[in-house]
Amino acid sequence: MSDRRREKLLPIERWPTAQEAAASRWFSPVQVGPVRAATRTWVPAMVPWRATGEGFVTDAVVGWYERFARGRPGVIVIEATGIRDVPSGPLLRAGHDRFVEGLSRLTRAVREASGGHTKLFVQLIDFLAIKRRPTREAFLGRFLTLTPRLRQALGAPLDAPDAAVRERLLSLTEAALLQVLDAREADALRFGQRERVTDTHLPHIAGLPQVLPGLFADAARRCVAAGFDGIELHYAHAYTMASFLSARNTRSDGWGGPREQRVRLPLDVFAAVRSAVPAHVAVGCRFLADEIIEGGSGVDDAAYFATRFARAGMDFVSLSRGGKFEDAKQPKVGQAAYPYTGPSGHECMPTTKLPAPGPFGRNLPAVAHITKTLRSEGLATPVVACGGIASFWQAEAVLEAGEADLVASARQSLADPDWFEKVRQGRGDEVRRCLFTNYCEGLDQSHEVVTCHLWDRLKGQPDDATVPRTTDGRRLVAPPWS
Ligand SMILES: Cc1cc2nc3c(=O)[nH]c(=O)nc-3n(C[C@H](O)[C@H](O)[C@H](O)COP(=O)(O)O)c2cc1C
Ligand code: SF4
Repeated sequence: MSDRRREKLLPIERWPTAQEAAASRWFSPVQVGPVRAATRTWVPAMVPWRATGEGFVTDAVVGWYERFARGRPGVIVIEATGIRDVPSGPLLRAGHDRFVEGLSRLTRAVREASGGHTKLFVQLIDFLAIKRRPTREAFLGRFLTLTPRLRQALGAPLDAPDAAVRERLLSLTEAALLQVLDAREADALRFGQRERVTDTHLPHIAGLPQVLPGLFADAARRCVAAGFDGIELHYAHAYTMASFLSARNTRSDGWGGPREQRVRLPLDVFAAVRSAVPAHVAVGCRFLADEIIEGGSGVDDAAYFATRFARAGMDFVSLSRGGKFEDAKQPKVGQAAYPYTGPSGHECMPTTKLPAPGPFGRNLPAVAHITKTLRSEGLATPVVACGGIASFWQAEAVLEAGEADLVASARQSLADPDWFEKVRQGRGDEVRRCLFTNYCEGLDQSHEVVTCHLWDRLKGQPDDATVPRTTDGRRLVAPPWS
């Protein structure tokens, strides 16, 4: 689809005047627990793949967030930041005190660039191990564990030498192989080995409920030392905490099964974090309004979780939808599965390829249901809506209808980090509008430095000669707004 056709699909509207923006709900202040956000505009977490391989803040990380801060949103949430001190590629980490210095640099830069206007939260994440899809030869010849069940299924004696068993496996046709592998083994062959929270035969997985509250609390304490105003616990998408909440969590040790047990660990983590950080710091979570996978948690589960989180004292709940491994596309050999490639992934980061009504506001019915449930229980916890919201009147309508209390825009803010400020000043016509192509998400998928393809279309920018660039020549930050 051409960019011109995509532009035609964007919600058509006139931009507000400066007076309309000043009088709007979206640009009005809101209390997020102990933190007062100057406006209800929110940039949700987006991983830009700019940290060092050891998880430290770089100049490029600072430049990325500084650029968002110049648009003066009410809140920016820093990308998913790992709570453990383990190698995890160029993703930010807060799993050790040595990360505090870089994170402090980041909070100072945002404060300065926004003139103190923007509150800075950080999203804390835990994730389980995932391997790349192996070749058939490597999987059957080396990685696959030769269990007694497998030997039996093959008709091989229990004491047959491993080499002979592997040779036999390698000689099988695809169909015959699928007859002898169990579901998990077949999955590891087709998608790459992936740990699940239900792997309780592995001691480190069985022990997650004991270790995670402390790990999250320690990471949160470091982030507070670095100067963050708020902590967003990442309970969404394909990662550990979302997997505990999932209806697919069948753990039978008291941490899975009925939703009362699935919510236990997320509540324990929150309690540990809340008691580890001072009262002036906001603590909330991002979780799924709907997993959108077969057998997954739906919107009623989410409304129940929201109520439990609100009663426990969370300062906000931010809602996303989908983004799961369970329905992800099979990766190519040598690549890891990516949770935004299947139907649930398309809901999480919707594009203009989606049939009507397209990518705009698809999460809102679920978000509205959850907000309504909270209010009917007498709970005023602020709710953050997100997903295909990329225009002023769209955001304003969400707030006016009481569907949410803050409205987040990820990709629109990436396409034009100045857009909040342009709209506020009545200069909406100058907004560079996101075309919902997911070029940026494709870069995330291949673990490449994330940029927006619109940035490089504009030739003759005043900073062309000096702007930092990727090794393949892309701008690392959006063009300046003159
Ligand atoms: C490049 C990129 C990276 C993202 N990284 C994160 C992340 O670290 N944590 C998270 O919760 N969501 C992440 N998201 C999802 C966004 O926060 C948001 O939920 C999604 O893009 C839908 O909102 P939008 O339609 O306003 O873009 C990412 C999205 C993009 C495009
Ligand atoms: S690259 Fe991302 S931010 Fe840029 S227009 Fe495409 S979807 Fe929007």
